[in-house]
Amino acid sequence: MKSAEIRESFLDFFKERQHTIVPSSSLMPDSPGLLFTNAGMNQFVPIFLNEQPCPFETYRAANTQKCIRAGGKHNDLEDVGLDTYHHTYFEMLGNWSFGEYFKKEAIEWAWELLIEEWKFPKNRLYATVYKPGKRDPAEFDQEAYDIWKGLFKKAGLDPEIHIVYGNKKDNFWMMGETGPCGPCSEIHMDLTPKGDTKGKLVNADSPLCMEIWNLVFIQFNADEGGGFSDLPFRHVDTGMGFERVCAIMQGSKGFKDFTKPISNYNTDVFSPLFKEVSKLCKKKYKATLPSGRPEELNADMTNDVAMRVIVDHIRALTFSIADGILPSNEGRGYVLRRILRRAVRYGRQLGIKELFLYKLVPVITEQLGFVFPELKRNGAAITRVIKGEEESFTKTLDRGIELFNQHVEKNKRFLKAAQMTATSDTPIQIEFPGDVAFELYDTYGFPLDLTELMARENNMTVDIQKFEKLMDEQRQRSKDAQKKSVIKVKDSDEQHINTDFVGFDLKTGVNVEVCNFFIDEPEEKGGTVTARLYITPTPFYGEMGGQVGDTGILEFGGEAIEIIDTLKSSPDSTALITEQVGLLEEISFPLKASVNLDRRKRIESHHSATHILHWALREVLGNTVSQKGSYVGPDRLRFDFSHPEAMTEKEIKKVEKLVIERVEHDAGVQWYELPYKEAKKDNSIMQFFGDKYGDTVRVVDIGGFSKELCGGTHVSSTLDIGCFRLISESAIAAGVRRIEAVCGDAINDHLKPVFVKQNEEVAQLLKKSPKARITLDEPNLKPEVSWDLHLKNRSAIEKLKADIHKLEKKHAKAQEARMQKEAAHLAEEWTKEADTSGPIPFLIKHAKGGDGKFLQITLGELKNHFEGVVVLAGDSNNKVALAASVSKKFTKQIKAGDIIKEIAPHVGGKGGGRPELAQGGGTEPNGIALALKSAKTLLNKI
Ligand code: SER
Repeated sequence: MKSAEIRESFLDFFKERQHTIVPSSSLMPDSPGLLFTNAGMNQFVPIFLNEQPCPFETYRAANTQKCIRAGGKHNDLEDVGLDTYHHTYFEMLGNWSFGEYFKKEAIEWAWELLIEEWKFPKNRLYATVYKPGKRDPAEFDQEAYDIWKGLFKKAGLDPEIHIVYGNKKDNFWMMGETGPCGPCSEIHMDLTPKGDTKGKLVNADSPLCMEIWNLVFIQFNADEGGGFSDLPFRHVDTGMGFERVCAIMQGSKGFKDFTKPISNYNTDVFSPLFKEVSKLCKKKYKATLPSGRPEELNADMTNDVAMRVIVDHIRALTFSIADGILPSNEGRGYVLRRILRRAVRYGRQLGIKELFLYKLVPVITEQLGFVFPELKRNGAAITRVIKGEEESFTKTLDRGIELFNQHVEKNKRFLKAAQMTATSDTPIQIEFPGDVAFELYDTYGFPLDLTELMARENNMTVDIQKFEKLMDEQRQRSKDAQKKSVIKVKDSDEQHINTDFVGFDLKTGVNVEVCNFFIDEPEEKGGTVTARLYITPTPFYGEMGGQVGDTGILEFGGEAIEIIDTLKSSPDSTALITEQVGLLEEISFPLKASVNLDRRKRIESHHSATHILHWALREVLGNTVSQKGSYVGPDRLRFDFSHPEAMTEKEIKKVEKLVIERVEHDAGVQWYELPYKEAKKDNSIMQFFGDKYGDTVRVVDIGGFSKELCGGTHVSSTLDIGCFRLISESAIAAGVRRIEAVCGDAINDHLKPVFVKQNEEVAQLLKKSPKARITLDEPNLKPEVSWDLHLKNRSAIEKLKADIHKLEKKHAKAQEARMQKEAAHLAEEWTKEADTSGPIPFLIKHAKGGDGKFLQITLGELKNHFEGVVVLAGDSNNKVALAASVSKKFTKQIKAGDIIKEIAPHVGGKGGGRPELAQGGGTEPNGIALALKSAKTLLNKI
């Protein structure tokens, strides 16, 4: 059978037995204690622990799970390449019962699949059963023993021979130090030519007797103190080594021939990769296994180890990166980096000089993309990441190897001399110096285990003690250095893909160039399929602390993907949600991300207003008010707080009035980071005791009167909040009140023109001005108290209208004042930079972020300082503004209108005007540089 058929046959077998087939979970584990997903059962831990209900109707499931065992409790990294059956990455086929069937079915079905379906020779099979040692938990597994006994007997085999006992080390399965666990029963297969070892090789670490299937009977939860408590239900968790089963079935030609070594590598799982590696290094894979001392291996053996390591490691790398785990300097990222560097070094040993690992990625995505679609989706990104990593390591690799070899040579000479003078037979131990291992690590990027491996190949051991001492000293140095700078909140074990948030300032919210992206598997919920995407840098705010996630678009190659939500997936990472799953495979660079700015502005208004509301509530009701929850969206804000009774109408009005006053006051909003220790001491900063904060916190300061710890985004002036109105005040629990309010444009969405029917005059008014859609009777909000927002009368409408108008005017005025100030400052600066070398002095400038109005104001300011020609370009909201002025005495030589006419086409626009003053505009900000250059050329000609 081909490997694909074996996988399918396993899943079909359990499907026929009412198991739901579930997709493999990500290699990024949910459990914080794990580096990688290391077993099929990982995704089911919450069900085993009874923390989540079982979602499967029949309480049965089966799948093939991607696993990595290269760090933590289960770690096979050191064995990879040296034998036939250890891997960093492998697939595990499994079936599960969640409090449903137990040992009898699990064991009998395993027997049926192996013996009846797949025709494994039963005389070669051995079952292990749990027999605790002195300090081991639980009892002898009599039940499993009896079931196996019955099966072996029926098959005419002696249970005394075919059942082997194992203690906690071999027959009690634990995922990590804690969590669901239980006794297990493993199935091993004798792979010797004759198959007559009578169980002697079981659990003896021999490639001639392999464990193929582990049946775990989950019954306990292991706690941190080393105790085991009973779980409310008993479960089955089985795991079959997919590559091993393929090796046995394919390597023995359907169980007919066991004369050649059975090796996972001699299967169609690995053959496409070997083919490619052979092509790259121009050597054949000969499937030899190492024997003898490391330095005595012949060329074939050395090459074959290297090739096995490479085909193994590239799978771990490809699958991890597809799941968003990137090589880095810490945690699981460092494990990946080590794996990659080992593979690169082995490539070098095979004589491959160029970058090569990344070329193996398409082999895997082609081969397994149909089982694991994330490979296909992320193929290009995986290749990119691997190539980049390879490139950076390759730069130092040769110099590192040279340094290593120098020391080996030196020590070999020393060894020879020592041997010649040695008097006893004691073998002389040579040590590779720890300081050189440290230099290799620090300067050349050689992970310690790579140096150790190279040392082993030369029959040496590394002086780890010295290495560790130097590492400790370095850690201390970097700790001391860190103390001086701000420490960022970071928990490396929790992170998915680090996404760098660049969207606090709305000016940077559109057209952000994305450098890297990852796509998660699509998920289906209630008939809707969505997928998660991770981009970095990202202007999208992920839902957090009440503020809803951003929406927006991603643009690439003439296509656009709509982002319908953004979620926080770890402290350092946000996920974008889209329904356009089909388009994801096509994402390419250049890739631009833009937040829906109007929506974000509304959210920011509501967020800043929430802070002011919090302050006002404390002013009116006292300092016993404390926040219990909040919602900050584009449509409204909701603020829950502790207060023993309903607010009176007077109190409500007072709070609203206070907020409005503060909003209209044009207070600046600032934010800055502080070490938490410092923030904690500052009583003027609102913070919630008992909440978890990182080392560094962000303080949002509104006009000095409201200071809160907050990670959200805010307006830059309170005037940006616009009009503010409370909509409702109600109780949500004993002692907890809820206020809802709206600001700015969102007010319109809450107002229904009910009044229209009653008053023709108002109806006319409403038609004329959308801002005047002002009759409120909001049935969904069920207000407990009504006040003037529930505009029952004309005067309330008029007042709100007047308020809006007043605010708009005030806003415009404040804006203008700000512009004026900035323009005056620029004018003064720029005047110094004028080009006065020609007959007419001139000044050509790009006013970044400026619109037409700003350019006009700046020209006005420049008039006071400068005589000559001024040409300005500005860009805001993806539009270009142009303006030119010519002092009267030069208008004979050059006219402002002509300058604009000449340069506007470069920005895809037009314009013109009078000889002294002209303006124009365009739609292509990328053309600004060219437009300004052409102005210069024009002026230089005079
Ligand atoms: N959890 C067990 C293992 O990984 C069986 O699936 O071996």
